[in-house]
Amino acid sequence: MSQFTVAVVGVGAVGEEMLRVLAQRNFPAREIRALARSARTITVDGRSYDVQETTPEAFEGVDIALFAGTEGESGAAVTFAAEAVRRGAIVIDNGADFRMKPEVPLVVPEVNADAIEKHQGIISNPNCSTIQMVVALKPLHDAGKLKRVIVSTYQAVSGTGRAAIRELEAQVKAWASGEELPAPSAYKYPIAFNLIPQIGSFRPDYYTSEEWKMIAETHKILGDDSIAISATTIRVPVFNSHSEAVTVETEEKITREEALRLLAAAPGIVVVDDPSVAGEGGPAYPMPIETTGKDLTYVGRVREDPFVPNTLHMWVVADNIRKGAATNAVQIAEALVERGLVGKK
Ligand SMILES: NC(=O)c1ccc[n+]([C@@H]2O[C@H](COP(=O)([O-])OP(=O)(O)OC[C@H]3O[C@@H](n4cnc5c(N)ncnc54)[C@H](OP(=O)(O)O)[C@@H]3O)[C@@H](O)[C@H]2O)c1
Repeated sequence: MSQFTVAVVGVGAVGEEMLRVLAQRNFPAREIRALARSARTITVDGRSYDVQETTPEAFEGVDIALFAGTEGESGAAVTFAAEAVRRGAIVIDNGADFRMKPEVPLVVPEVNADAIEKHQGIISNPNCSTIQMVVALKPLHDAGKLKRVIVSTYQAVSGTGRAAIRELEAQVKAWASGEELPAPSAYKYPIAFNLIPQIGSFRPDYYTSEEWKMIAETHKILGDDSIAISATTIRVPVFNSHSEAVTVETEEKITREEALRLLAAAPGIVVVDDPSVAGEGGPAYPMPIETTGKDLTYVGRVREDPFVPNTLHMWVVADNIRKGAATNAVQIAEALVERGLVGKK
């Protein structure tokens, strides 16, 4: 198989995981170039990477550039993605900067891999909370056509990056030693032993930017703007793996048994739904501590609504740094390679 030169931009929570996932999945890379704001050497799983400062020239000869830097005006992708594309790379971006641009495919390989065929240099990875939800929604949409989706998220601090992981650790340590909690900085309020019902910024309609990302991105990925979606996104004091309570109303009735069958047969999903073993040592339902470090989306607690027809409830958990970011991006890169779309300068 051909070998490719891959750049990873950003070596924070997501970038470091990308380096790990590329190695674990034996991505056919002749060179992996780690780029960040400042140069240094880092070690990931015993392998050392000489991190270079990100410059336009650093993308010379790169076939695939995986971006996991900062978002926004002066962020990594806005500053360097076009430079990378100009030099012949295909960019796979983790941030929100390009996701809703009509010419940019927004891809979850289990759901809409064909969208990559139409790329014009940049492909976007959806938001972490969107990725795991659409993996679980897809088989139900195909079988019964979604009419309405209501989701409440329980999002881990790793979704905010390294600084937030350290902040939760510091607050828990201070609490355990009887000290005053250090002042919050990654969040507006203490996150230890708390829930913060705000992710992103508020909009005039009282929803947050994260909630609208889940709505708009799901419409784009499923190619159906008619689905009525509402989201409530909550930051919780969990280090890693996002959980979601998802309510789904479909045009055609889907029973619990059918849903379990459809979900179990769908790519990228593991069904963990056995209430009889709860507390008995067996996995009864998905939980963040068990999905961390894994690449799949875990679904459980599937049940029919007792009052509203054609309505199911389920619980969806995935590692937000892996499936919600690094693994999804590497899967897109793998799909590009499989389809012979890389290296066509
Ligand atoms: N965490 C998640 O669950 C998640 C999920 C989906 C998407 N994302 C997105 O993925 C991106 C990275 O998130 P993260 O959690 O890994 O952040 P992070 O831990 O804060 O790390 C950010 C990394 O980006 C580098 N960087 C920042 N600005 C840069 C620039 N202008 N040029 C080059 N490199 C730059 C930093 O370099 P230095 O180390 O030199 O400072 C650092 O290595 C964000 O866009 C985020 O929204 C995150």
